[in-house]
Amino acid sequence: MRSELPSAAVSGTFQIDGDLPVHRLGYGTMRLVGDGAWGEPEDPGKARRVLRHAVELGINLIDTADAYGPEIAERLIAEALYPYPNGLVIATKGGITRQGPAKTEYVGRAGYLIQCVEMSLRRLKLERIDLYQLHRIDPRTPLEESLGALKQMHEQGKIRHIGLSEVSPGEIEAAEKIIKVVSVQNRYSLSDRRHEETLRYCESRGIAFLPWYPMGGGKQLKAENPAAAKLGLIAESHGASTAQISLAWLLQRSPVMLPIPGTSQVAHLEQNVAAASLQLSTEEIAALETAAS
Ligand SMILES: NC(=O)c1ccc[n+]([C@@H]2O[C@H](COP(=O)([O-])OP(=O)(O)OC[C@H]3O[C@@H](n4cnc5c(N)ncnc54)[C@H](OP(=O)(O)O)[C@@H]3O)[C@@H](O)[C@H]2O)c1
Repeated sequence: MRSELPSAAVSGTFQIDGDLPVHRLGYGTMRLVGDGAWGEPEDPGKARRVLRHAVELGINLIDTADAYGPEIAERLIAEALYPYPNGLVIATKGGITRQGPAKTEYVGRAGYLIQCVEMSLRRLKLERIDLYQLHRIDPRTPLEESLGALKQMHEQGKIRHIGLSEVSPGEIEAAEKIIKVVSVQNRYSLSDRRHEETLRYCESRGIAFLPWYPMGGGKQLKAENPAAAKLGLIAESHGASTAQISLAWLLQRSPVMLPIPGTSQVAHLEQNVAAASLQLSTEEIAALETAAS
């Protein structure tokens, strides 16, 4: 390994539910598969290299879902990384079905979710999933049924911890009557702060907050984004990229923040991990937030 490689360890360690340590800067695998999270990657070898390099860079939180591909991202993880190094946390999700590129339907029926867990275990070659996240609450299925199924999988030792995705504080509270919620994965970035209230709730409870679209799905890095000019100026003064400033802002935003930026490129992965060593001043943070608001 090159000695000048950045390390995700610099982002600090967060203990999920107090017993599962991960470096705060993780990696999201949705970009490894075809467009719209549908189909095989153009170059599966390259996708596996990105995954192996993520681990070389000290990333020990890898986010995935059965809906990425579907099934393909989980399969690539096992192909690239099994047998897994000690301490690697693979966080997967179930509850979203996919009918084509960017076409989804939520399904939270117990039988379906149990099958999801069993099939993720098989694809990932795991006996237990460290963190299983309900990808979406299905409005047509009682929450008791969906979370009851995950609770059953937890009791059988097939899931260690349970998380939620795209939820409000009220939904977390409702879920906590059934299971212990250790993580929340909601859409969040400098330019999209619709879930500020949920972030504050997670902070107050020590619940991990995994922002998806941490760079707006790439849109935050484009010139037409309202914060682009300020991001560009601050990036230039740090000798950094706008992607790195976006991630540094997230890491400094909250101690419970565990960003999982997605990329299909080794060079972008290295750049994103290096963002962990950037330190933004209070003035820079305020200027970014004003520009984005
Ligand atoms: N819970 C949910 O419902 C949900 C929904 C969506 C996503 N997620 C999870 O969240 C993760 C992150 O979201 P995301 O991947 O959709 O969006 P993102 O991390 O905000 O942005 C990814 C996009 O930015 C580009 N990019 C990444 N690093 C870059 C860099 N250093 N310089 C320039 N461009 C860069 C990528 O292109 P390249 O490939 O060219 O680098 C890609 O197009 C996903 O991978 C997935 O694990 C969860």
